[in-house]
Amino acid sequence: MKTFNDLAELSNEEISALLELADRLDKHPEPHALQGKVLSLLFLSPSLRTLASFQAAMTRLGGGSFVISPDMSIHGLETRPGIVMDGAAAEHINEAIPVIASYGDAIGIRAFAERKNLEHDMAETEFNAMTSLIDTPWINMESAMNHPCQNLADWKTLDDLDVPANGGKFVLSWAFHPKALPLAVPASTLYTAARRGMDVTVLRPEGFELPEPVMQRARAAAEAAGGSVQESDDRAEAMQGAHVIYAKSWSSTRHYGDRINDQKLRNGLVDWCVDEPWFDNAKEDCRFMHCLPVRRGVVVSDAVLDGPRSVVIHEARNRMLAQMAVLHRMLGAGQ
Ligand code: CP
Repeated sequence: MKTFNDLAELSNEEISALLELADRLDKHPEPHALQGKVLSLLFLSPSLRTLASFQAAMTRLGGGSFVISPDMSIHGLETRPGIVMDGAAAEHINEAIPVIASYGDAIGIRAFAERKNLEHDMAETEFNAMTSLIDTPWINMESAMNHPCQNLADWKTLDDLDVPANGGKFVLSWAFHPKALPLAVPASTLYTAARRGMDVTVLRPEGFELPEPVMQRARAAAEAAGGSVQESDDRAEAMQGAHVIYAKSWSSTRHYGDRINDQKLRNGLVDWCVDEPWFDNAKEDCRFMHCLPVRRGVVVSDAVLDGPRSVVIHEARNRMLAQMAVLHRMLGAGQ
């Protein structure tokens, strides 16, 4: 495996093999599998889970890792193309990325969307420019529209909990948040649930529809896997018979890049905080999923997050296991 960028680039057999490997490495550790291997980690956006779980994964497999981020004592990192560098930053990513990559056997990169122009972000313009500078294997640790490490971990979580693939009902719900957040998690989570063959409903208020190409990609994946994709702004209808609700906030697509109008629209939506009454029509054991970090009392109530429905810690631990599988496949013996 040379890149891990998007579950859409993997066959069903490759996804199943990664999930089986993640399980195997959990039950039967291989502390020498990546001995002498180094993973470079470049974080141009913040993280807790992705950073810690990649470092833990490399250590558990016998390898090592190092982290570079703009907050560290580096020379100031410029990311804009074609810029005259007469400001604070003394180094451009065009040099920094190949240098960092050259110290490792693989590199992980995180760079969130700019959130100024939807077409620009959907084209993964920045991320593609960065990965074009690398000739070692690389991992997408969250780009403008993708978060494949989260997606693989979430797929594993659904399997671990015996949530049915075909016939399982998955609600991806927008939730209130004071800031306009990226589309990477909702877009790639929708694709993942659809690809798993689930009946997926995107529950969102008006103005927060996911972009049509994102919906189309998910519909095609669902059709191929025996599932379906719907959209609704009716909570009771969407939650009817749901096995899982996956909450996430995202930017208004109606006002993408327009912070003032996005804010005006979301200010009236503070009641989009997942709480126990949301589950009235759902399956009795309907689960609550979220990629974390999550704002308590804003995105979800304490009662749901601390209650038996919540599987967020299980999901977060699966990040490490899923990434161990990816690293083993990318850097292990015989690859
Ligand atoms: N879910 C996730 O990617 O968490 P971090 O942003 O903390 O890495």
